Amino acid sequence: MRITLRLVLRFLGIIALISIVVLSFSQSNIAYKALSNRLSTYETSLSSPKQPTINTTRPIDSVQELWTLWAEVYKATRPDAAKLELMFNAANEPVSADDHSSRTQHREQLQGLDSIPALQTAHTKFVSVLKSWPDHAAEQIFNGTGVVIVGGGEYFGPAIVGIHMLRRSGSNLPVQVFVTDKTEHEDKLCKDYLPKLGAECLILSDFIQGFKVTHYQLKSLAMLLSSFEHVLYLDSDSIPLLNPETELFASEPYTSAGLVIWPDFWISTESPSFYTVTGLGRMPSGLPKSSSEAGQLLINKRKHIKTLLLAIYYNIYGPDFYYPLLSQGALGQGDKETFMAAAMVLDSSYYRVKTGVAKVERNTGFEDKGSAMIQVNPSDDFLEQDGDKPIQPRPAFIHANTPKMNAGHLVDEGDLLSTVDQKPLRLWGSRDEQIRLFGLDLEKTVWELIVQNGCELADVIREWSNRKDLCRRLDEHWDALFKDNL
Ligand SMILES: *[C@@H]1O[C@H](CO)[C@@H](O)[C@H](O)[C@H]1NC(C)=O
Ligand SMILES: *[C@@H]1O[C@H](CO)[C@@H](O)[C@H](O)[C@H]1NC(C)=O
Repeated sequence: MRITLRLVLRFLGIIALISIVVLSFSQSNIAYKALSNRLSTYETSLSSPKQPTINTTRPIDSVQELWTLWAEVYKATRPDAAKLELMFNAANEPVSADDHSSRTQHREQLQGLDSIPALQTAHTKFVSVLKSWPDHAAEQIFNGTGVVIVGGGEYFGPAIVGIHMLRRSGSNLPVQVFVTDKTEHEDKLCKDYLPKLGAECLILSDFIQGFKVTHYQLKSLAMLLSSFEHVLYLDSDSIPLLNPETELFASEPYTSAGLVIWPDFWISTESPSFYTVTGLGRMPSGLPKSSSEAGQLLINKRKHIKTLLLAIYYNIYGPDFYYPLLSQGALGQGDKETFMAAAMVLDSSYYRVKTGVAKVERNTGFEDKGSAMIQVNPSDDFLEQDGDKPIQPRPAFIHANTPKMNAGHLVDEGDLLSTVDQKPLRLWGSRDEQIRLFGLDLEKTVWELIVQNGCELADVIREWSNRKDLCRRLDEHWDALFKDNL
């Protein structure tokens, strides 16, 4: 009797369990149907403007023709969606320099996902046009190796320091300095001074019409529109410390990957929705934990023309969509993640430097403040990962961003003085520390150039023209800190 009762109870239990499973399945099925109905209304409303096409037989004989062709595709694949808003900005969590663990997906911080289906539709269209385009269509238009910098206004000063340092590294590579439009083209500087340094000014608005681009968006366009096949892109404040021809372009990982990207201090914070939009579904495994820093970048445009065109898509539609998708409001949100993201989405090769970025600090008398970042030589980094001998990767760039090496701003904005006693202050740490890091007193070397350029160009660079006694004030700083090798 007892046994029968137990059996009946067990039977009832099983029935209950089955009903729960069936019920919840139909519930989720209902929810799924509702969602897919919503998605298909998006699809139909969006797919009504027809799929953009590209004339794949049209010959591309110049950078202008390349731009004209792709400008149409960018316009036709504008996401028909509301600007993305964040619930709050992602926090900046540092990654320690020796932490080589892989990335975990950051949490979703977008306010709503209503724009995602439309973004995905537009992205799919863009990538399908990109894939239909012959791989070698633009092969003939780029030539040689060179350095690309975005200059203009307050960026000219630091850029000139960088170009001088490039020459000191022993490099004769041609330099193309892009400015936004004619108003930023300074004749004396661009026609007399820069050509003597092997650099020329190019005006972005001469190449692209009908697109308003600013700030971060300029960089990827400057890379594309430069005439070089092999490009070292430099922010105006990223100073090269090694000869790029022999140390960067001639060896691995550049020769195989054709795209080299450096790390930032912070964890990566892209939204899971980026992977939905791009059709990858979810974050690929094995990505580096840290985000990227695009103050310097190496790209082979013959190999990576499509990567670059997709990165430009992310930048053109960056401020409203792809910047928040890729950074979720973290410090430095902008073009920084777009290059690696494009390579990842197209499954093309890239090398992300593994040695963490190092910080260069100053003591203001009151606190330690970050002044610059050191990025290492990717060839050393590559050998270190590969080989059995430990190698100390050499510094390849000092990205001197806070403050930038702009002579006029340096003397006027107070960064050169201790906050405690107003005495002149070293910005990159002590002389001993620099000799340990760079093998020389790098700040002294750079200051020699700052004084020389500041005095020579005080009446040439437009934004220095009203800075009284610029040369004398630069000399004073030099005398106080560097003259006697203190
Ligand atoms: C594509 O370009 C080729 C070469 O310029 C031209 O002959 C052809 O008419 C173009 N096709 C279309 C559909 O525009
Ligand atoms: C590339 O540049 C070199 C040197 O400037 C020149 O001799 C050569 O003709 C150029 N090639 C093309 C395809 O433009």
